[in-house]
Amino acid sequence: IESNAAELKKALNQYPNFPQEGILFEDFLPIFTQPALFQKLIDCFKMHLEEAFAGKKIDFIVGLESRGFLFGPTLALALDAGFVPVRKAGKLPGECVKAVYQKEYGQDEFEMQRNAIPKNANVVVVDDIIATGGSAKAAGELIQQVGANILEFAFVMELDFLHGRDKLQAPAFTLLRDQAEALKN
Ligand code: PRP
Ligand code: MG
Repeated sequence: IESNAAELKKALNQYPNFPQEGILFEDFLPIFTQPALFQKLIDCFKMHLEEAFAGKKIDFIVGLESRGFLFGPTLALALDAGFVPVRKAGKLPGECVKAVYQKEYGQDEFEMQRNAIPKNANVVVVDDIIATGGSAKAAGELIQQVGANILEFAFVMELDFLHGRDKLQAPAFTLLRDQAEALKN
């Protein structure tokens, strides 16, 4: 995993002052332009999860809109698991569970279809990055509302200095422990 992770990390592009002044944006989209790297991304998560949860069946990967949709379904297929999307409010048909979370300005709401995941199923939540942890925590609340079991939250990147993982309902794994930090000025 380590050598693949180093290669994946090299593929990230940094954009200073995006989407706002003072933020160094880590763009992981280049990984998806190269099939060999995309495969490595999936392989790394698969290896980690199979080792961390040996003897347990991972029933569902839950991916967060929108960047969690880029690799969540592919990872799910590789693990012989189902994929379930968590979407921003108003996008999903049928009965949904809902959770509000804080954004930089105001709040946002996540939804998940209530019948998508049966009670007691084993779930791993994936997203591109954990920052404050607000989004992932809200996703965790949705999974708890349907009575499923969160094995882990798995991210490609993490802004360690925001300590987002401390908010989460289950352990967090970050593939590329990324030290990106707000630019001074
Ligand atoms: C970004 C990122 C994570 C979330 C992390 O998504 O993709 O989902 O923020 O922030 P947090 O840990 O502070 O909640 P964003 O809400 O910008 O939407 P997008 O994925 O649709 O671009
Ligand atoms: Mg997102």
